[in-house]
Amino acid sequence: MRVITVCVGSACHLKGSHQIIGYFKDAIKEANLDAQVELKGCFCMDECTHGANLLIDDRLFHANSIDDAREIFETEILKKQA
Ligand code: FES
Repeated sequence: MRVITVCVGSACHLKGSHQIIGYFKDAIKEANLDAQVELKGCFCMDECTHGANLLIDDRLFHANSIDDAREIFETEILKKQA
């Protein structure tokens, strides 16, 4: 099971984390990965200045747009589904 954790703290919220969660929700569904990928929210990761922050498993990523989130999803989730 892969885990995507998106920060919903106030700084990340202002940088679009809510829309990013929406994107991941749809992307997981479209790729039929509901059973393989869990989507969670969390509060501040102490990385506020770096954009909307998220973890894929234990690795930190910064997404400043839906395009960033899409690239992360394609690279880290889709390409790593064996
Ligand atoms: S609010 Fe997201 S890292 Fe601080």
